[in-house]
Amino acid sequence: MQDLLNSALQAIENANNSNELKEIEIKYLGKKGLITEQLKTLKDLSEEDKRTTGKAIQEIKQKFLSAYQKKASQLEIEEINSKLTAEFFDITLPRLNKINHSKKGTIHPLNQLQQQVEEIFSDMGFEIADGPEVESEYYNFEALNIPSHHPARDMQDTFFIENKADPKHGELILRTHTSPVQIRTMELKGAPLRIIVPGRVFRYEATDATHDSTFNQVEGLLIDKNIGLADLKGIMEEFLSRLFEKDITVRFRPGYFPFVEPGLELDILWQKGKNGQSDKWLEFMGAGMVHPNVLKAGGIDPENNQGWAFGFGITRLAMIKYQIADIRQIHNSDLRFLKQF
Ligand code: PHE
Repeated sequence: MQDLLNSALQAIENANNSNELKEIEIKYLGKKGLITEQLKTLKDLSEEDKRTTGKAIQEIKQKFLSAYQKKASQLEIEEINSKLTAEFFDITLPRLNKINHSKKGTIHPLNQLQQQVEEIFSDMGFEIADGPEVESEYYNFEALNIPSHHPARDMQDTFFIENKADPKHGELILRTHTSPVQIRTMELKGAPLRIIVPGRVFRYEATDATHDSTFNQVEGLLIDKNIGLADLKGIMEEFLSRLFEKDITVRFRPGYFPFVEPGLELDILWQKGKNGQSDKWLEFMGAGMVHPNVLKAGGIDPENNQGWAFGFGITRLAMIKYQIADIRQIHNSDLRFLKQF
């Protein structure tokens, strides 16, 4: 019996891994295991011998089990440690050169530009505001001083959402400009306000080299006391000069939008005329002093507050900045185009 125990303990000691250990357990304690077989012999013994031999076998079994448990937990720790060493992945190592980096994605030029725009205006104290792309006629038109049957509704051909009229706010539509967010932000925050609203807008019109039915605008709105158009000119010159990394001159021309009064268009001086030729100006955006009706619709008292608003196409800005001739290239995901940015 003592020999049996010694050889069992030796085997446990020599086990190299948990599989070997498992086999040892089967060899000694399995159905036909060596210790099990000893227990089976008990039934042929006298009562007296049964007791003493039985006790001895149980002791051996206990010793076997406690040696087995000890070895098992020791092996477990060893196996976890060696697995950790084998599978360790050093994320601080420099990258391998054999990886093909030409397949790495980049941020879309339009989004790159939008990030730059947001950064510059943030630096000038503007917050970034947001609103829904599926809008109501109320926010897109009525609240902006464009009642139904106003001819200005035809200037912005509209996508309607089928059967989705809302009694209070009219039909549901895809917003035709980011201006509805003017009203939404006034309602939400009141005066004073200093926001820009970058976002997608939609127009039901044919696509050609300079028009797309989906494009991106940036709305600007500043409301405070004693605000005038000189502030707008200063801010736009600062913004454009930082964006184009050179001094930019702008000019105002009269323009018409029902939600501003006076309304104007802002042009960028693109090329000084040489040798008596005239200067080249690029039409850049619509703007103006916020109409009192619009302030009222947004819950702001037009007697004590005023402000200006502007809206430009960021898609158009991308075309100017990157000298892209055809607007359709911006959205058609052609990698030959996208890889240039
Ligand atoms: N919402 C106008 C458009 O899309 C642009 C604009 C915004 C004009 C703000 C004036 C003031 O054409």
